[in-house]
Amino acid sequence: MKFSVACLAALALLSSKVRSNEVEVAGDRATPTVDHLLQIVQLKLDELFVESSEQVEQLLTELYHLRQSVEHVAWLTNRVERAVQKVQLDNDVLVRNVSLLTSQTDNIILNQQYCANHEALKNLFFELTPKCLGNQTVPPIPTPSIPTTTEAAETSTAPSPPTTSEAAETSTIPEDLVVYERCTQAPPRSGVYQLRRQDGTVFSAFCEQERFGGGLLVFQSRLDGSVDFNRSWSEFVEGFGDPAGEYWLGLETLHQVAPNATDLVVAMKNFSDVEAYEKYCGFWIDDASVNYRIRFTAQGNGTAGDSLYSYFSEHFMTYDHVSNGNYRDCIAQLGSGFWHYSCNSQIGRNNLNGIYGLGKGKQGIWWGTFGNLSVQNTSPLKTVQMMVRY
Ligand SMILES: *[C@@H]1O[C@H](CO)[C@@H](O)[C@H](O)[C@H]1NC(C)=O
Ligand SMILES: *[C@@H]1O[C@H](CO)[C@@H](O)[C@H](O)[C@H]1NC(C)=O
Ligand SMILES: *[C@@H]1O[C@H](CO)[C@@H](O)[C@H](O)[C@H]1NC(C)=O
Ligand SMILES: *[C@@H]1O[C@H](CO)[C@@H](O)[C@H](O)[C@H]1NC(C)=O
Ligand SMILES: *[C@@H]1O[C@H](CO)[C@@H](O)[C@H](O)[C@H]1NC(C)=O
Ligand SMILES: *[C@@H]1O[C@H](CO)[C@@H](O)[C@H](O)[C@H]1NC(C)=O
Ligand SMILES: *[C@@H]1O[C@H](CO)[C@@H](O)[C@H](O)[C@H]1NC(C)=O
Repeated sequence: MKFSVACLAALALLSSKVRSNEVEVAGDRATPTVDHLLQIVQLKLDELFVESSEQVEQLLTELYHLRQSVEHVAWLTNRVERAVQKVQLDNDVLVRNVSLLTSQTDNIILNQQYCANHEALKNLFFELTPKCLGNQTVPPIPTPSIPTTTEAAETSTAPSPPTTSEAAETSTIPEDLVVYERCTQAPPRSGVYQLRRQDGTVFSAFCEQERFGGGLLVFQSRLDGSVDFNRSWSEFVEGFGDPAGEYWLGLETLHQVAPNATDLVVAMKNFSDVEAYEKYCGFWIDDASVNYRIRFTAQGNGTAGDSLYSYFSEHFMTYDHVSNGNYRDCIAQLGSGFWHYSCNSQIGRNNLNGIYGLGKGKQGIWWGTFGNLSVQNTSPLKTVQMMVRY
C-alpha cells in the first residue's frame, strides 16, 4: 500500500509538471529535445501507472482471495476440531457399547454351550448305547392270525374223538384268567391279556400280536375320543381308560416293565387313513423320583419321521404336576400331559396325548414329522398307539 501511495503521489507531481511544460513547449520551440524527452517519460510513466494500478488491483484481489482462504481454512479447522471431538465422544460410547456387547455375547455363548452340551449329551448317549440287535421287526407284517387256528390244529392232531372235547375244554381256560409273563408269551392274537409286572403285580393290557412283528404291549391308545386324556398326575401314574379301547397303561406299570421292554413302536393313522410308524430300538422309563423320565438308546426309524427322540431325558408333566417350569406353558398350549419339551421348538415334536378330534389345532393329536419330515405338521391323527416289545 505504501508503495502504491508513493507511486501515485510521484505520478501526480510529474503529470502537473508535464502539463506546465506543454505550455512552455507550445511557446518555446527552442528546446524540443527536452520536451520530447519529457513526453517520452510521461508516456512511460503513464504506461507504468496503468501497469502498476493493474498490478495493485491484482494484488488487492489476490489479497482478498487470500484472506477469504484463510478464513475458510479457519472455519474448516474449527469444523475438523469439532468433528474430532465428536469422534472421540462416539468412540467412548462405542467402547462402552462394545463392552456391553461383549458381556452379552458371553451370555449368549454360555447359553449356546449349555444347549450344545444338552445336544452333545444326547448324541453321546446315542453313540455309546448298543444299537438294535437284529431287525426282525421293521415293517408291519400282515399276519392276521385267525383265532381258531390253534384250536383247529389241536383238534386235528388229537387222535381219540371222545376225550378231545374234554381235553380241549380243560386247556381252553378263558384267556383273561390266564396271567402271562409278557405279550411275547401270550397267544398270537391281538387283544387284552393279564400280564405280570416286575414287582409281581398283575395288570391288564392290550397286546398287539399281529402288526410290527407282534409281542407288543400297548401303553397308549387313541381310537375314537371316547376317553378324556386331559388328566391329573395321579391318573397318569395309575393309568386310565379301557385296555380294549382307548387307554393309558400308567407310568408306574410302564416303568415296572421298562427294564425288559425293548423296542418302542409308535403307530398312527390320519383322517385319510394314511398310516405311518416310527420305531425306537431301546426305550425305558425311569422311576417316580425323576418323574418317569423318558429314555431311548437310539433315534427313531420308520415312515413317520422322528418326532419323539427330542424328548430324551425329559420328565413327565401334567397340569397339576410341573417338574420343569420352563415347559409349564406346553401343558396349557398343547392341552396335554406328556414328557414335555420346548413347546415352540421347530424340531420334530408331537402331541400324542392331545385332545381327540378335528379342528383342535395345536391341542389336537399330532405328530410333527407326519407326511413331511421337514415341517411341524399339527394336522390331527385319527388313531395312535404307543407300544413296547415286552
Ligand atoms: C450405543 O448403544 C445405544 C443403545 O444401547 C445406542 O442408542 C447408541 O446408538 C450406541 N452408540 C454407538 C456409538 O453405537
Ligand atoms: C438288518 O437288515 C439289513 C438289511 O435290511 C441287513 O443288511 C443287516 O445285516 C440286518 N442287521 C441285522 C443285525 O440283522
Ligand atoms: C426282566 O428280566 C430279568 C432278567 O432278564 C428278570 O429277572 C425279571 O424277572 C424280568 N422282569 C419281568 C417283569 O419279566
Ligand atoms: C433304518 O432302517 C433302515 C433299513 O430298514 C436302515 O437302512 C437305516 O440305517 C436305519 N436307520 C437307523 C437310524 O437306524
Ligand atoms: C385340562 O384340565 C385342566 C384341569 O381341569 C383345565 O384347567 C384345562 O383347561 C384343561 N385343558 C384343556 C385343553 O381342556
Ligand atoms: C394324511 O396324510 C397324507 C400324506 O401325508 C396327506 O396327503 C393327507 O392330506 C392327510 N390327510 C389328512 C386328513 O390330514
Ligand atoms: C415338506 O415341506 C417343505 C416346507 O413346507 C416343502 O418345501 C417340501 O416340498 C415338503 N416335502 C414334501 C415331500 O411334501
